Amino acid sequence: MRLSLRFIIPLTLALAAIAYAVVPLVDGLTLRWFARDIDMRSNLVANVVHDSIQESLASGSKTRTLRVFDKIIEDERLYALGFCSASGGPPIATKTFPAEIGCADLGVFADPSKKVLQSDKGPLHVAVVGIDADGSRLGDLVLVHDMSFVQRRSEETKRYVFLFFIGLGAVVSLITVVIAQLSWRGWMEGVRALMRGEGLLRPAGTAPPATLPELRPIASDLRALIRDMESEYRARDESQVTWSPEALRTILRDDLRGEDILVVSNREPYIHARRGDRIEVSRPASGLVTALEPVMRACSGAWIAHGSGTADRDVVDANDHVMVPPGKPSYTLRRVWLTDEEEAGYYYGFSNEGLWPLCHIAHVRPTFRTADWKQYNEANRKFAIAVAQEAKTADPIVLVQDYHFALLPRMIREKLPDATIITFWHIPWPNPEAFAICPWREELLNGLLGSSILGFHTRFHCNNFLDTVDRTLEARVDRETFEVTYGGKPTAVKRYPISIEWPPADTLTGKPVAECRADVRRRNGLPPDHFVGIGVDRLDYTKGIIERFLAIERLFDLEPRWIGRFSFIQIAAPSRSKIEEYQEFETRVRALADRINGRFAGGSAPPILLKVEHHEPPEVYEHYRAADVCCVTSLHDGMNLVAKEFLASRDDERGVLILSRFTGASRELPEALIVNPYDIDQCAAALHLALTMPEAEQRDRMRIMRGLISEFNVYRWAGRMLLDAAGMRKRGKLREPAH
Ligand code: G6P
Repeated sequence: MRLSLRFIIPLTLALAAIAYAVVPLVDGLTLRWFARDIDMRSNLVANVVHDSIQESLASGSKTRTLRVFDKIIEDERLYALGFCSASGGPPIATKTFPAEIGCADLGVFADPSKKVLQSDKGPLHVAVVGIDADGSRLGDLVLVHDMSFVQRRSEETKRYVFLFFIGLGAVVSLITVVIAQLSWRGWMEGVRALMRGEGLLRPAGTAPPATLPELRPIASDLRALIRDMESEYRARDESQVTWSPEALRTILRDDLRGEDILVVSNREPYIHARRGDRIEVSRPASGLVTALEPVMRACSGAWIAHGSGTADRDVVDANDHVMVPPGKPSYTLRRVWLTDEEEAGYYYGFSNEGLWPLCHIAHVRPTFRTADWKQYNEANRKFAIAVAQEAKTADPIVLVQDYHFALLPRMIREKLPDATIITFWHIPWPNPEAFAICPWREELLNGLLGSSILGFHTRFHCNNFLDTVDRTLEARVDRETFEVTYGGKPTAVKRYPISIEWPPADTLTGKPVAECRADVRRRNGLPPDHFVGIGVDRLDYTKGIIERFLAIERLFDLEPRWIGRFSFIQIAAPSRSKIEEYQEFETRVRALADRINGRFAGGSAPPILLKVEHHEPPEVYEHYRAADVCCVTSLHDGMNLVAKEFLASRDDERGVLILSRFTGASRELPEALIVNPYDIDQCAAALHLALTMPEAEQRDRMRIMRGLISEFNVYRWAGRMLLDAAGMRKRGKLREPAH
């Protein structure tokens, strides 16, 4: 509309100006034409009345002549008549004869341009015609015509010409605007189609691809340009930002119109449990929670999770809400309740006996049961209802977390079609052959592809996912843009390596390293100068705890000097203990630790101190800071945040990280001692290397790795996803049909 006005107004003004210029020209022209006509008419009148005038003049009676004259001027146009005698003297003239016309000056009216006389009666036309008798000149007959009718007509003509130009202007503007609008719309549709990657515009229902020929040459250039602009925009934004809680809040405020975000995960960030008659709050051992909790503290909004604590119901309000963190509330925790049956099928069964081993190549056979699958569906549906209840707008930003919710993105999409759904898969994605053993693989993929963005830790996992979709579904997989289009809707598949809060909270690193070292050794009955290794894991078969213990045993075999001088503290948080596989695993771990401790019992300290119990974050950090070496030897791990936490804890720039090459973290931290956990000799050698590493080398390695985490912290992880979501929402607006 604004565009149309911007066009119509100048055009109309231009045409009005033309009209103003043209009207006087037309005016002059018509005046000249009328003057010529009146000239001819005057001659005609003179010819007609010649004889009667001649006779009256010959009679010598002035009165008679005047009577003839008065008779003649009854003609409405002829205004006055006079006769100037050749012998001179005043004219014989009608009363109307203008005083300005003198008989002596009649020669003036021979000039055509001077024939029109402006008098107080209006314009008058003066024609002079000679009257002869018998070949001699009697005098001149002066015919004065009234020309006011010419003026009247000229006024009318002017009006019509002016109106004509105005009308013309309106019609031309209208036609131009309609044509411009139509072609602009067509062009924009074409561009939108290009951006959607649908090729070029074609009328609905017609066969593809009737491409707009004018867009064809620029199609790929346009896409490349948009991609470049996006990555430039992101790179610029990313590098300029200091990634902090404030940076996240700024993104939410500036790029996402201050939207609240909704996070959905199975595991809740705070668990309320009853201990006797007291209610205690604890933080679960979960990489997912470690990463997301600081993000939620920064962003506020609501975190929807399974209420699994024994006192969880006692602290929520009527909407199942409780504000957290306790003592410093900054976001809402919405608890979803599951029945024992649901928990058994959805959480223990399908999620942790099916998908967990399916995605981790840890040689534990996945178990898929139809009953579990049903509960998995039911639980996902329950969470979808909770999301719809918590959403404050029709297009919320929902961050769906992990393998417990593969069906949830599609379910949310059905309830809230305009939601921006970012799903993050915290564990590895297997290759298509491995994934193919799942009986419900198509349903899982369909569910996930309800997401706007689907994130993994590594490019490798993104590729595996694209391969799996390609093999399993009738979907379009674009390997250049990492986008899957399924059912006409695109899902961007992106790599977002997760990280931790940086800088770490004072409550975690406030205690000096020397004190941590002394206290941990004293509590464990170890001498002050004892070498200590640390492992912090859930008691899970993917974590490579057995292999780690075997490497310690091997170290003592190969380098007996460490017997009695080195002990390894393994913090093993009990996990999923209702599952048989986990129970057996705990038994094996305990037995192995006992066996190794038994073998090397001669030393002053046991080689392995196994602590199968929950530790709160400050205790975990105290152990990190007390250790000489930290072992992360997962057999397969999406990222592993223990590795990053250990580095973050070491502001003294001491300590060595041994890191499995099968973790996502090893891609980012090559300065760690990278090992294959299945290669026990190599791990033993790495332990020896770590225990003998000069302090300067420890510092150099630490500095590089800490530098990386400080730059790529969890705020950046979340910020990149939110920026991508913001970009997507902006592009979505562009794609909407023009109104
Ligand atoms: C992994 C998963 C998380 C999970 C965590 C702890 O890190 O990716 O989703 O929360 O393990 O497992 P749990 O079953 O105790 O929640």
